[in-house]
Amino acid sequence: MRIAVLGLGAVGKGLLRMLAAKPELGLVLTAVADSSSACIEPGGIDPAAVLDRKSATNRCGTQGLTAEQVLDSGAFDVLVELTPTNAVTGEPALTHMRRALALGRHVVTSNKGPIAAAHAELQEIAAGQGVALRYEATVGGAIPVIHAIRDGLAGNRFHAITGVLNGTCNYILTRMDEEGLTYDQALAEARELGYAEADPTYDVRGIDAAIKLVILANTCWNLGVVLDDVAITGIDGLTVDALRLAAAQDCTIRLIGEASPDRGILRVAPRVLPRSHPLVIEGTLNAVMLSTDMAGECTLIGKGAGSVETASAIIGDLLAIRDRYVECG
Ligand code: HSE
Repeated sequence: MRIAVLGLGAVGKGLLRMLAAKPELGLVLTAVADSSSACIEPGGIDPAAVLDRKSATNRCGTQGLTAEQVLDSGAFDVLVELTPTNAVTGEPALTHMRRALALGRHVVTSNKGPIAAAHAELQEIAAGQGVALRYEATVGGAIPVIHAIRDGLAGNRFHAITGVLNGTCNYILTRMDEEGLTYDQALAEARELGYAEADPTYDVRGIDAAIKLVILANTCWNLGVVLDDVAITGIDGLTVDALRLAAAQDCTIRLIGEASPDRGILRVAPRVLPRSHPLVIEGTLNAVMLSTDMAGECTLIGKGAGSVETASAIIGDLLAIRDRYVECG
């Protein structure tokens, strides 16, 4: 199966490293673009050579070649869209995805902006073209939560989704709780370690978690909700005293996203939880609890970010497409 990759940041590099390390998967890179160059080789490109070129020149291919030219080439079965997220417009990724789907190509992405902003529209184009739109990597990094909703728990009625959807906030809260760090100290640590978004206000004000909640809610219930529909309170106003108060009752505080159409809830807010609660996880981990009619409560916990971890989710989507569309026809 031929794949074109747009965007060569941490996730794109992680994906190319895994493509180089796992040739047996049969995922053939035929095009790649970054912000200033591109490389298109319908016969296949060595991902390791692209990574070497990128680290030597900061370009993945020929200067001046663009993502649009990759799309025009049509030399791929699946577009993997990994350009930087724009949470407001979803661009330029949204245009790239519409274009690829209209060409009858599958799309796989880790890009939260366009999926949160235009999930229904993109799904409709994909369905009309008989191709797949898959976005496991947009929520919870390596955790296969979208697969669980769509496949593993298919046939269940979902009552609620509750989760820790932002690793940066979880790291900050863990450090404040365990080490008594102030919010500012813990945030500085999270930034130093590279966990936070380019603009960390997206993390600490709960916007990143809300975007992921929108994606999960639309996947589960097709509600057509958008970011503006989420009631959001971040952790930026939280004090060490609030955590101490919770600790005195054998509880702690976590930033929790919660969606339940039955109860009219779509919100992200700090919540006081008993330490034994399944969503009280440590550090940058993410967790999602799915409350269902048949399976009861199912909680998935795992790494919510990281280049290779996110590549794991992308590769899972690519192989699901290969198995469903390419090998079986
Ligand atoms: N900044 C995000 C987080 C990265 O901390 O969870 C993954 O979306």
